[in-house]
Amino acid sequence: QSSSLHKFKEILFSTMSSEELLNSLDSFSAREDDVFLVSYPKSGTHWFAKVIENIPNADITLTSPIELGDISKLEELKTYCKRRIIPTHLNYNMLPMDIKQKQCKIIYIIRNPKDTAVSLFHYYRDNPNLPGVETWAAFLELFLRGNVVYGSWFDHVLSWESHKNDKNILFIFYEEMKKDSSKSIKKITSFLDINVSDNEINQIAWKSSFREMKNNAAKENCDPNKTICVLTSNKNLVFRKGAVGDWINYFTSEQKRVFDELFTEKMKHSELARHFED
Ligand code: PPS
Repeated sequence: QSSSLHKFKEILFSTMSSEELLNSLDSFSAREDDVFLVSYPKSGTHWFAKVIENIPNADITLTSPIELGDISKLEELKTYCKRRIIPTHLNYNMLPMDIKQKQCKIIYIIRNPKDTAVSLFHYYRDNPNLPGVETWAAFLELFLRGNVVYGSWFDHVLSWESHKNDKNILFIFYEEMKKDSSKSIKKITSFLDINVSDNEINQIAWKSSFREMKNNAAKENCDPNKTICVLTSNKNLVFRKGAVGDWINYFTSEQKRVFDELFTEKMKHSELARHFED
């Protein structure tokens, strides 16, 4: 594994040292109207961020890169005047206490773990800041052991699922958004108490479609003075295929068997698990 990764509370992180992370999480100060866009990596963060960004009259700022645990970013977060939309990949247990105390709104995005694994595999392969992985089989083993950035998919989802009845948390699925984006967009806007017309919803869906986002990715840049700021500097790493069910092109039947066995074991008490039965 590359030296740029380090473990904090048993979970791999790609950026800061454990001490920095601990300090920054402890000292994070939330605002009551903050909205957190939370997901395990590669679950569709950029997609849902784009949806929120395109809600008319939302009067929001989508903050720049994800890490709540990055001290330099914490300072930057303080400078935003408008309602902040803050993406993060933290699991529930690591979420700064102040966010929980203030009961800020949280949107938790979930994606089929097999597709998530395939997406993360490509991200590992193409991202020079992450450890190289030789093969899909080798990566899948790391994924199943939770030995990848942000740890185990199962632990992440379960940590959030235990708060599924919290009124301030909206659970939203990548696959549902793909199937009926208007319905998912409506869920998001009503959760944020913003009125939008059907026409506006269609506009949002169009602007956040995979094709549109991929085409625009190269043109956008990260300018802190603009309300819109990209989450990841190299957008080509983010817009790969944007499909449901791509896992079938990667998993052998034996790999599927092993995966399903672990899924059944880990998710035996999970109600969310039924979304991913295939
Ligand atoms: S990151 O780097 O963890 O923040 O990545 P994240 O944005 O969470 O997830 C990247 C995957 O989401 C896909 N994506 C989309 N799918 C459908 N529609 C739209 N508009 C869209 N935008 C991004 C992206 O292609 C990655 O999935 P894969 O399967 O690799 O294509």
